Amino acid sequence: MRFKDKVCLVTGASSGIGKATAMAFAKEGGRVVVSDVNVEQGERVVNEIGSIGGKAIFVKCDISKREDVEHLVKKTVDEFGRLDCAVNSAGIAGNLSLPTHEYPEDAWLQQININLTGTWYCVKYQLQEMLKTGGGNIVCVSSAAGLVGQPENVPYAASKHGVVGIVKSAAIEYATKNIRINAICPTAIETPMLMEGRRKLAYNPEAKEEAINHQRMKRMGQPQEVADVALWLCSNQSTFITGHAMAVDGGAFA
Ligand SMILES: NC(=O)c1ccc[n+]([C@@H]2O[C@H](COP(=O)([O-])OP(=O)(O)OC[C@H]3O[C@@H](n4cnc5c(N)ncnc54)[C@H](O)[C@@H]3O)[C@@H](O)[C@H]2O)c1
Repeated sequence: MRFKDKVCLVTGASSGIGKATAMAFAKEGGRVVVSDVNVEQGERVVNEIGSIGGKAIFVKCDISKREDVEHLVKKTVDEFGRLDCAVNSAGIAGNLSLPTHEYPEDAWLQQININLTGTWYCVKYQLQEMLKTGGGNIVCVSSAAGLVGQPENVPYAASKHGVVGIVKSAAIEYATKNIRINAICPTAIETPMLMEGRRKLAYNPEAKEEAINHQRMKRMGQPQEVADVALWLCSNQSTFITGHAMAVDGGAFA
């Protein structure tokens, strides 16, 4: 019960890593704000949390819209009185696989607006609340593509490198304010983004096999394995860690 009565906000919490993180906070006693653009699935997560005796609300938020993010943080505080932990998992990987010289501007802007500007909005408004109460923890879900390039998906790599830049810069700014800010950089995690999104591994057994064989552990990571790291970074077991971009990669960067 590391998060008993802590107020924990998770974006992208309707699915994948965000959902696993919201559930994990609830299991450890947190009061959880489940946020996403997907209302139906988000409300299902809230019901799941309720069914295990946890406390959660759903707040619809498109992180690429500043007024949505402002409302999300305000609603969190109106409902639960404060904000202790935030995990910013909302993001997209786009649908295209194209080299940089052919990549269309609208698809570039979509990823930049959500993954980079959206994450910046989240961190900005979360910090404002944490400063009022004297501390907190923020974790942003970047990617392995925030540490190395991702061919044929330049806006994804650029936006995820940018998330690491936000995290490192803000971590320094608030290091003496009792606010820690870290990034998680996963490789292949078995979520709808990877299985049904751009690479559609769920429908392409050969590509799935190749993706698995590419992993050092010869398996994909599970959302829970990322959620565990997010909770640890938000907990009192990592109090001297800030500004870190932590690979959760099954040995890929070894
Ligand atoms: N799955 C992987 O292999 C992997 C690897 C590295 C990084 N990531 C990152 O992890 C994070 C979570 O991805 P996932 O794998 O759980 O994918 P997912 O698709 O299962 O979940 C992403 C969630 O974000 C939500 N979302 C999308 N755009 C949004 C917006 N504008 N505002 C609010 N919510 C929005 C979606 O509705 C969805 O519920 C993403 O930031 C992703 O880039 C995933």
